[in-house]
Amino acid sequence: MARIVLVSGSLRRHSVNSAALATIRSILDRREGEFRTWEIKVADLPHYNEDLDVGPGPAEVRAARELLIASDAAIISTPSYNGAMTGALKNALDWLSRPWKASSLSGKPVALLTASPGTYGGADAQPDTRRVLERCGAVLVDHARVAIGNAELLVGHEGTITEPSVVAELEGLVDATVAAVRGHRRVPVAA
Ligand SMILES: Cc1cc2nc3c(=O)[nH]c(=O)nc-3n(C[C@H](O)[C@H](O)[C@H](O)COP(=O)(O)O)c2cc1C
Repeated sequence: MARIVLVSGSLRRHSVNSAALATIRSILDRREGEFRTWEIKVADLPHYNEDLDVGPGPAEVRAARELLIASDAAIISTPSYNGAMTGALKNALDWLSRPWKASSLSGKPVALLTASPGTYGGADAQPDTRRVLERCGAVLVDHARVAIGNAELLVGHEGTITEPSVVAELEGLVDATVAAVRGHRRVPVAA
């Protein structure tokens, strides 16, 4: 069984990034073999504060860290806010990257996509987001860039995207994530 954590960088009720992740969830639900999906809600986490990051830390943070550690991979979808990931997502990554040398993201395969109502699909947020994820110890899943433009026009009544070309892109991202999980599991554990 592969356990995949989904993380949307947006807090918006009708977020196109959350819709992209809902689409990925439905793709995984249809797949042969067992996938379990969970969600980390970045809105549940307090503002990062080193004074709070002692011992087990805040309950919401502990839950998010434990969920990520127990998962095989994460898929993150974020809007671009001024050319970078949202502050809420960066805040979540800061929590997840600690304690120092024990990041919950360490060695974790992470696939990244962006979406926006604009033409470029938030692609300008991807370089910085990748850099930060690598700094947190994540292993970025190798896949064709997914940046869903004009996304608001693509979300149907059920809150998912049905446009075949976009669904095909998301299928490719899911394939790459599953391959990364399988490859990851083959890596022998150091003695
Ligand atoms: C503070 C702020 C900054 C933004 N900066 C950018 C930007 O640099 N590039 C871009 O493509 N869209 C930008 N946008 C538009 C967002 O992509 C848009 O609000 C989008 O809907 C957010 O995704 P969501 O539907 O998942 O919430 C910005 C929006 C906000 C609120």
